[in-house]
Amino acid sequence: MGTAALDLLAQALARRRSDGLERVRRTVESAQGPRLTVDGRDLLAFASNDYLGLAGAPEVIEAARDGARRYGAGAGASHLVTGHTGAHAALEAELAAFVHPCDGARALLFSSGYLANLAILTALAGRSDAIFGDRLNHACLNDGALLSRASYARYPHGDVAALESRMETARGRRCVVATDAVFSMDGDVAPLAALAGVASRHDAWLVVDDAHGFGVLGGGRGSLAHCGIAGERIVYMGTLGKAAGVAGAFVAAHPLVIETLVQTARPYIYTTAAPPMTIEALRASLALIAAGDERRARLAALVEAFRQRAARLPWKLLPSQTPIQPLIVGDAATAVAVSGALFARGVLVPAIRPPTVPAGTARLRISLSAAHTAGDVAVLCDALAAVARERGA
Ligand SMILES: Cc1ncc(COP(=O)(O)O)c(C=O)c1O
Repeated sequence: MGTAALDLLAQALARRRSDGLERVRRTVESAQGPRLTVDGRDLLAFASNDYLGLAGAPEVIEAARDGARRYGAGAGASHLVTGHTGAHAALEAELAAFVHPCDGARALLFSSGYLANLAILTALAGRSDAIFGDRLNHACLNDGALLSRASYARYPHGDVAALESRMETARGRRCVVATDAVFSMDGDVAPLAALAGVASRHDAWLVVDDAHGFGVLGGGRGSLAHCGIAGERIVYMGTLGKAAGVAGAFVAAHPLVIETLVQTARPYIYTTAAPPMTIEALRASLALIAAGDERRARLAALVEAFRQRAARLPWKLLPSQTPIQPLIVGDAATAVAVSGALFARGVLVPAIRPPTVPAGTARLRISLSAAHTAGDVAVLCDALAAVARERGA
């Protein structure tokens, strides 16, 4: 390769750095939980999506061990070859019954939420169709829409009237509305009942990405239960690496949707099935989610305690009732500086910058877990107040 090509990469990376947009990986040396050893430092972390603390639950870890003993370490092949084990089949049945987006629904496992969203949108829409997405949707819904080759229009965040007027222009085409259920960087819940109404009026699919609601909202069943909606045109995607504490994702929907995914979705067909030991871990995790009201109540109390104290900080606290509690700082460099000052005080809170969030809205994304204590939240709030004072904010 010529040096000119490398020079271009070096220049682009240097630009990123000088714009405050360089991303740095930290190395975690301890087990998942509120206390992490990161790059040799012991920290109190508010950075994961392990909202119920199940990544470290002994029952889940034990089930993974048993699964490995029974099935081996890996699936060995894709689902349509020999990767689909009894563990996968059992978990799919359990998830379909638990989330129940419509009568007779089936569920289908994926290796990640990213792949699941690519699969759904490419299976439901093609060149002559139209997809509509909330402006704050997660990147993988946007990527799925682009990969489908359908036309893709984004509507202002949560604006159901704007969505409906955009859909008027797509009459006669097959339409899909895609939304995060809980917005990953804002923590608010999409107006799912109104969106389901729009989808129904336009004979459109409603794709609900519940990465951050499954396990937490609706008694653990997720955002559909939380909003009291169900129906055959809803395609539900839940992830299993966040509140469920392990890895992977699933789609729950009408059996014809699921069969279409099995037959046609390339992100399902052309990849190795998730290791059965992680699936056995997830079966244990699902049982804990179903019986998890106490964990969810503890989490809700922590969210409330945090919000009361955080309202006094100089940064804007977004109106979120979920464990995702963002504080808007403004520009990327300030967000990085505040996150760095917290790190120096032993508290890990990630700075989220463009392009993950819109320019000018760089933020601290604080995420709470049932594994935190009230004392942990007090330490976080004291550290935030001290950093705010230090910076004269
Ligand atoms: C809203 C949303 N959808 C999908 C994903 C992707 O899920 P996964 O991490 O399982 O690929 C994420 C998380 O990264 C997310 O926040």
